[in-house]
Amino acid sequence: MKQRIVCLLLGLSGCFLPIQAQNIPVYLDESKTIEERVEDALSRMTIEEKIALLHAQSKFSSAGVPRLGIPEVWMTDGPHGIRPEVLWDEWAQAGWTNDSCTAFPALTALAATWNPELAMNYGKAIGEEARYRKKTVLLGPGVNIYRTPLNGRNFEYMGEDPYLASRMVVPYVVGVQSNGVAACVKHFALNNQETERGTIDVVADERALREIYLPAFKAAVQEGQVWAIMGAYNKYLGEHCSHNAYLLKKILREEWGFNGVVISDWGGVHDTREAIFNGLDMEFGTWTGGDDWSNSDSYSQYFLANPYLELIKAGEVGTAELDEKARNVLRLIFRTEMNRNRPWGKFVSEDHSKTAWEIATESIVLLKNNGNLLPIDVSKANKIAIIGENAIKKMTVGGGSSSLKAQYEILPLEGLRKYLEPQVEVVYARGYVGDVSTEFDNVSTGQDLRDNRSPEELLKEALVVAKDADYVIFIGGLNKSHEQDSEGADRKSMDLPYGQDKLISELAKVNPNLIVVNISGNAVTMPWVNEVPAIVQAWFLGSEAGHAIASVLCGEVNPSGKLPFTFPVKLKDNAAHSLGAYPGNDGKVEYKESILVGYRWHDTKKIKPLFGFGHGLSYTTFEYGKAQLSSSTLSRHEQIICSVEVTNTGNKPGYETVQLYISDLKSSLQRPLKELKAFRKLMLNPGETKTIEFAIDNEMLQFYDDTKSAWVSEDGSFEILIGSSSTDIRTKAKFNLK
Ligand code: BGC
Repeated sequence: MKQRIVCLLLGLSGCFLPIQAQNIPVYLDESKTIEERVEDALSRMTIEEKIALLHAQSKFSSAGVPRLGIPEVWMTDGPHGIRPEVLWDEWAQAGWTNDSCTAFPALTALAATWNPELAMNYGKAIGEEARYRKKTVLLGPGVNIYRTPLNGRNFEYMGEDPYLASRMVVPYVVGVQSNGVAACVKHFALNNQETERGTIDVVADERALREIYLPAFKAAVQEGQVWAIMGAYNKYLGEHCSHNAYLLKKILREEWGFNGVVISDWGGVHDTREAIFNGLDMEFGTWTGGDDWSNSDSYSQYFLANPYLELIKAGEVGTAELDEKARNVLRLIFRTEMNRNRPWGKFVSEDHSKTAWEIATESIVLLKNNGNLLPIDVSKANKIAIIGENAIKKMTVGGGSSSLKAQYEILPLEGLRKYLEPQVEVVYARGYVGDVSTEFDNVSTGQDLRDNRSPEELLKEALVVAKDADYVIFIGGLNKSHEQDSEGADRKSMDLPYGQDKLISELAKVNPNLIVVNISGNAVTMPWVNEVPAIVQAWFLGSEAGHAIASVLCGEVNPSGKLPFTFPVKLKDNAAHSLGAYPGNDGKVEYKESILVGYRWHDTKKIKPLFGFGHGLSYTTFEYGKAQLSSSTLSRHEQIICSVEVTNTGNKPGYETVQLYISDLKSSLQRPLKELKAFRKLMLNPGETKTIEFAIDNEMLQFYDDTKSAWVSEDGSFEILIGSSSTDIRTKAKFNLK
């Protein structure tokens, strides 16, 4: 009434009344629940309008319902930054000038922080960037388990351990979605290699599926309440994962209660009937039936477009599935685009740079530090030689769908110069020429890396430069080029490419103060490991790469990263390769190692890794007290508390990640020697002691019994192993489950 009077006074006779005051349809009424609004919207839509919701209308968007004012859905990769705008129907960038993002560190790096708080900050920040760029769905994070060091996409994932990946994915998802932008966890499931990714049929037993490959997805769904999930390219049980009845209907919907949207991977749909009946909601990236660039109407040819409509019209399929899919998509739209209370987002802000820097610095892993060569003593150095292509190569462009157009990227050489000059003379030599490409989908880094010198000339120059320097910092590793850390193909070998091994050995001969910084998203062999006193694992660190590397090498930041996957000595030490179970043959790859993935394999088979899962040194030292248990018996509905004291015994403040593994001492089915079940990252000042308490419960003791299709724990003895890594256990305690 009041509003009407105001409007009359203004002479507007009610025509601009606020939306609540009019007789508005339920789907627009924000006082109603999302489910009420979904049902109302659905009841107003034609079959054609429902179909239109289910497939792409461009490379990264799908239609809304224009007639009803229901917005379109816009997707973006993911997972390390917001992908530049592409042309309507092409992968090439559209040439916008407002879409250069903050490049966050790759997800391997995030996992290496072992810091769920940083995962939350990551998700929140990248979600803000997605929101500002008006995106509905961020295509990430990826949580496929690291099975082989050859997988080209490992850098986009969170390592080899399902528990670590679970703890990191949940806050990422929550952070993204706090912006009213959906996260889309990918690639569901068993997409652990790029070789034949579109056709390979994965044969994994039920225990491996449940214990290793699914937990991070399950956590994203049940704890993170993720709104979207992406079906993988590969097959499982003979069916493509984007329309796989067992994965999508039985496990995801029925068992886990997922009520979000299942989105196909781009081009991951192959069959209309399977797509209709096996739980897919949205189809993207398909080229069907000879469809190609020349066909301007390709989207209507999608499996879930006209072919679906025709089946309905012919009465061959009903509309129950159609309604269910449309419901899921509408729910997504109400949660995101039609949520008027969501924040506005922001783009390339100072705090995003800070978040990127924090994650990058906390992710760097000090693998080896003989004689405390690191941190560099800047006050005593006159000259530092920096060698290697990765010191000067931008890494945010390339690698496939996660390639970015970053607003800026600090190179390692640039970062180190900022720290060291002018007090210290910095000299650079390239040492080798790897891949000089600087472009992806016509985004260019703007660098010209061409160099026609022979390997001998490059080596000679490097050795001259290195010889009389106080320190030599070699910065190499992999890059984002084809058959390196990149989508679409696997690596051909686990060795460093471009003759780097020889170069490193030669450098070690001319200067004992050699520091090797390996930039990669994957394990590499290190035949020179005993020749080099200090080795640092850096990752694809994004915009702040150079700053982060410099601040760790120069000691402004005490390294605290821990490996999220094992570095085997050689490829054959990895389970899949040892068993000849990669990349498969005749269209199938059998996961013969079952649950013994990563450190579970190395531990159980007693194969010493080069650097174990969870390994990472610090510039200080930590001592562990004895693990104490509140009781030596655990009953199934209770908890016992395991406490341990940790002391910083060195002279620098530092973070330690205390890792708790559990070993089932006797079990009816084979179990890994030990499994990560808890961890805590804590800051300790020199001399400071903190007591950490871990609650131990029945769930931590369970395994998946495939004969019973259930998670079970068995009475008997268990051992808790607490340490600084999977290969550095400091204290143990036993208890019984009753
Ligand atoms: C990748 C996805 C990505 C999609 C869209 C696919 O090739 O597998 O991870 O989100 O493309 O770019």
